[in-house]
Parts: sequence; C-alpha cells; structure tokens
Amino acid sequence: MSAATLSPATDPAAVQRLIDRFAELSTTPADQGVTRLGYSALEREAHAVFAAHMESLGLPVRTDAAGNSFASLAGTGNLPALATGSHLDSVPRGGRYDGVAGVVAAMLAATALSSRDEPPSHPMEFVVFANEEGARFGQACNGSRALAARIGRDDLDRLHDADHVTLAQAMAEVGLDPDRIDEARLDPADWAAFLELHIEQGNILAERGIQLGVVDTISGSTRFRLVVHGVPSHSGGTPMNRRVDALVVASRIVLAARTLATDARHHGTRITVGRMVVGPNSMTTIPGRVELAVDVRDTDPARQRDAANELVAEATGIAEQEGAHLDAELISDASPTVLPARVTAASQAAIAELGYSHIVMASGASHDTQLMNLICPAGMIFVPSGNGGVSHAPREWTAAPDIARGVDALIATLLRLDRAPSPDGGAA
Ligand code: GLV
Ligand code: MN
Ligand code: MN
Repeated sequence: MSAATLSPATDPAAVQRLIDRFAELSTTPADQGVTRLGYSALEREAHAVFAAHMESLGLPVRTDAAGNSFASLAGTGNLPALATGSHLDSVPRGGRYDGVAGVVAAMLAATALSSRDEPPSHPMEFVVFANEEGARFGQACNGSRALAARIGRDDLDRLHDADHVTLAQAMAEVGLDPDRIDEARLDPADWAAFLELHIEQGNILAERGIQLGVVDTISGSTRFRLVVHGVPSHSGGTPMNRRVDALVVASRIVLAARTLATDARHHGTRITVGRMVVGPNSMTTIPGRVELAVDVRDTDPARQRDAANELVAEATGIAEQEGAHLDAELISDASPTVLPARVTAASQAAIAELGYSHIVMASGASHDTQLMNLICPAGMIFVPSGNGGVSHAPREWTAAPDIARGVDALIATLLRLDRAPSPDGGAA
C-alpha cells in the first residue's frame, strides 16, 4: 500500500497547529526557546490543553497522583490497553518538539482512532507524563517512574532543583500531593503495550534521508554532582603559586571527561558537564567552590558505570594535585534499555506497509519509554530532527510532514498491535 492510499493520513497542518499552540506556553520569549519546566504551572497548563482536546473528542481524562494525564478510548474487548504518549515539560530554553511531538501524535492518533467506524478491540490510553526532563531535578522521567514504582516519597525530598526547591515542594505548588505518589503506580496487567513517538535529537535520519527510525535501544545515564572545594582569596594579592583555585580544578575535570569519553575504550560514551556553579562568582576573588553536574550516557551499561567511576577517581586525583578537596554525590543512575522485538517488529511492519523508509537505531536521549518498558512491552518511533539534529536548544526543529509520517506509523503500529494475537496465546 502506498502512503498516498492511506486513509486517513495525518494532516501536517494539524500537526503544526498543535506544535505552535504548545510553544506559546513558555516563560522565555520565542527567540530564546521554550521554557516549561517540570512541575511548573505552565506544564500543568500544557496538560490542560491536551485534556481539552481529548474531552472535545468525548474521551474521559484523569490525572494521577504524579501529575500524569490520561485520556481513554474504550475498546470492544475486555483487554489491557494499548498506550501512547510523551511529555510536555521542557529544559530551560529548549525546543518546541522534544516530548511535544509525541503528545501531538497521541492527540492526532486519538482523533483518528475515535472517529473510525471500527473501534479497536483494546482500549487505547493516551498519556502525557509529568516532569520527564532531568534538567530541573537531575533525575529524568519522574512521572513515568511513579507509574513503574521506581520513585518513592523519600526521593521527592532528596531531589531538588538549582533553587533548592525539592520535588515534593514543586509538586505541592502545582496542587499535587507528594504523600500520595505511590498511588500513581500502574498495574502491569492494565497495559498490553506502549509506544512513544519522539524527535530523534540527532542527525542520523536527516543525513541519510531516511523518513523514520524504529528504536531498539535507549541509552542509560549516570548523573552525579561534584563539588570542588578550593580556597577563596584576593585575585590581586594572592600569588599564582599560592592558589587553590576551584575553577582551575573544575576546568581540568571537564577536559578529563572529554578525554575519557573519546578514548579508544569508549565508542559511544557521552559525558557532559552541563552545569557549573562558581562561588563566589566574583571577578576579584579566586573561586573557592565549584559545583559541576555531570551526565554520563551509554548504551552499554558496564561501560557507562565504568566511565562514571573512572571520572570520579580521576577528578579526585586532579583535586589532590591542586591541593583542593572533592566531594562526589550520585544523583541518579538509569540503565540502558533494550526494547522488545514484539513492538519494534510491529512498527517495522507497519512502516513498511505505509511505504515509508526506516532504519532500526539507538536513542542517545532518555525517554519515558524506558520506564514503561518495565510495565509492558514498549517501543519508540523516531522522526528526523532538522537543523543538524540540534535539540534541547531553541533551534530544535522537525518539519510537520515528517512528524505527520510518524503519526501515520504510530497509528498503524497501534492497529497492528490491536490485531496481533497476545504472546501468551490469549485473546489480546
Ligand atoms: C531527556 O531529554 C534527556 O535528557 O535525555
Ligand atoms: Mn523528550
Ligand atoms: Mn529532553
């Protein structure tokens, strides 16, 4: 079947309208990217836009204790649900597409599936996960973590943002009760499969002229905070050989991280120091304290953990050489995820039937799919990222027709999973 014969094929103009609508919800002006942090009032407003769209289709919407939103389409069978969705929070000064593309896809899939003459056998769940980005609290995927019972009440007090607002406080500020977080837990018996559409956030698809990616592996991440304690002192009075400059130590650590991630043993390890807080951050005082946030990613779990441990050991050595002291604190540690063939195979077959080109590929970024895969078989469809694959930045961009093709593939995969016999031989 060619794409042209598909009915109904997703309208790129409908995709663009929804992308633009969500992009309006930002604390930064359009030319400085989108800022809609997790557990902020704007994130809740974005969830309300999703809810209004779903309610206009006649789908009931609920919000759970973690702030995840769900819209349900009834199925004809007594079966567990097929679910799809993504997130609506952003990094500071991020793009318009990360997470949003997958939510828009879920909204348009709901529009298409709820208007079909033949309803699905499985109920369909359309979901927006709360607070996916690790940018604010260090740990990624908090909403989906709650569904998978991978975050507890204690974590909500432990994790905090740069202003020392804890996750629990941020949740309470938007009307959620952190004491009820355990109630968000999803019964694995309730979902048969989960599928997320997302922008690639890299340049492989665009560079190779491929329309879609089917993800088979998602990178893990180990994140930690390093604090370098030097000696603050006068920038003019202190001779160069009498200094313990915490920023010099931190700079050497950043360079050591790059050397480590690019040595011959690390094909694919990515290490980023994305945040540094210099104290007292005054032009005429030698920096006495520097805090670094370090993010180590890999698709190989052993290499990921070894690289993180090696970097901490090396950073400790650098601090000692410079007469400084180093504290290291683990913020979060997530393993890479291998996605099950059941869902990837369904996506590949659906995409082939649509007549679109695709490759099977790994994801460098983290996704809620990793947590959903702990509950039920999960998969991801990538659409190409334009502008050289830039993401988490204002220039993040994907053409609406490229997303529309992804939505076609998402719907076709859900319908294929709806028809597929269950792996245990039951009616699903
Ligand atoms: C989520 O976008 C991540 O940081 O990978
Ligand atoms: Mn994302
Ligand atoms: Mn992101």
